[in-house]
Amino acid sequence: MKVLVTGGAGYIGSHTTVELLEQGHEVVVIDNLSNSSHSVLDRIKEITGKSPSFFEFDLCDEEKVFNFFESEKNIDAIIHFAAFKAVGESVENPLKYYRNNLSSLVNILNATKNYPSLKSFVFSSSCTVYGQPDILPVTENSLVKPAESPYGYTKQVGEEILKSVSLQSNFPIISLRYFNPIGAHHSALIGELPNGIPNNLVPFITQTAIGKREILSVFGNNYNTPDGSCIRDFIHVVDLAKAHVVSIERSIKKQNKSNYEVFNIGTGVGYSVLQLINTFIETTGVKFNYKIVERRAGDVEKIYAETTLANTELGWKAELNLAQMLLSAWNWEKYLGKN
Ligand code: NAD
Ligand code: WQD
Repeated sequence: MKVLVTGGAGYIGSHTTVELLEQGHEVVVIDNLSNSSHSVLDRIKEITGKSPSFFEFDLCDEEKVFNFFESEKNIDAIIHFAAFKAVGESVENPLKYYRNNLSSLVNILNATKNYPSLKSFVFSSSCTVYGQPDILPVTENSLVKPAESPYGYTKQVGEEILKSVSLQSNFPIISLRYFNPIGAHHSALIGELPNGIPNNLVPFITQTAIGKREILSVFGNNYNTPDGSCIRDFIHVVDLAKAHVVSIERSIKKQNKSNYEVFNIGTGVGYSVLQLINTFIETTGVKFNYKIVERRAGDVEKIYAETTLANTELGWKAELNLAQMLLSAWNWEKYLGKN
């Protein structure tokens, strides 16, 4: 297959590109490098021995998107990762998020309306669409709650756009709702590259453990959970990457049950923030400082996925455990420290 990966130089896109190349697919990456760097493409080559074709431009540029699909023929599948993802920044600058995340999606869909070879479109959605769920674990039919942030709203609207487009499109569309992706490739050559001070838990932990940050703040220990800290469904980024490959295969083999499908992509197991910290220390043998502080505004108390639909329909299951996720994140942080 020839697969277009937008945002392929980013965190999840680069791991997915590796999986696709390793399975013998041809990969074309579009990325404007707004949150990534060209060196990621070199490291993909180092891991796989193969290079994806690379186009550097902004998907919000409608003309460039049209020209791309005019010149690049025979794409079988598109995985659309490209988007901004910082929840807090989206509250401060909502239009930046509406413009980037929605116009890039609309431009691609518009340019591929009559694109003959396209047989599959996969979209990066998020568990953020569920807000704080009433019943756990969340299934794909759980209520989509009013978005807590403009970022979350772009995922809800993105899904609605795709649902309506799927009524006319001659290619099936799949939205994957990721839970909390963490970890890095086992080679430690690619991983997450947070910009500035990390918002997310695991990059903050690894940066504290290596000495880049002084202390981790744990946001609240008075939640209604066994140890009082929040619960999340952490998933290894390589498992997540594999879910994209099987999603494309499902569409290509015409195994889809409808033209628009949604799957939760998590492990189905919830771990608390404090459990994760303890697992990191036990697995790596590295201690670091942390303190309990006030709750962070907007955090949901607990969420984890019901993954039966992805298990049965996609034939996919997360394989790597929390210790493996954290060890790979730590190896990546150590690699960054040396390079
Ligand atoms: P990332 O920032 O590492 O990767 C996104 C890539 O897209 C970057 O390389 C960036 O340069 C590129 N990009 C952004 N806007 C672009 C544009 N207009 N034109 C071309 N390239 C553009 O993010 P990620 O963590 O890999 O996330 C990938 C997708 O998954 C995003 O849609 C994100 O919202 C979604 N998602 C991420 C998480 C998470 O926790 N990481 C969870 C759920 C959903
Ligand atoms: C996890 C837990 C924090 C940092 C975010 C987005 C969500 C999705 C995934 C894209 C929470 C706690 C964190 C720290 C802490 N992304 N924490 N100290 O908020 O579950 O989800 O990424 O779609 O939309 O909101 O992930 O890693 O920020 O936090 O105590 O320094 O760790 O309070 O309970 P979150 P996270």
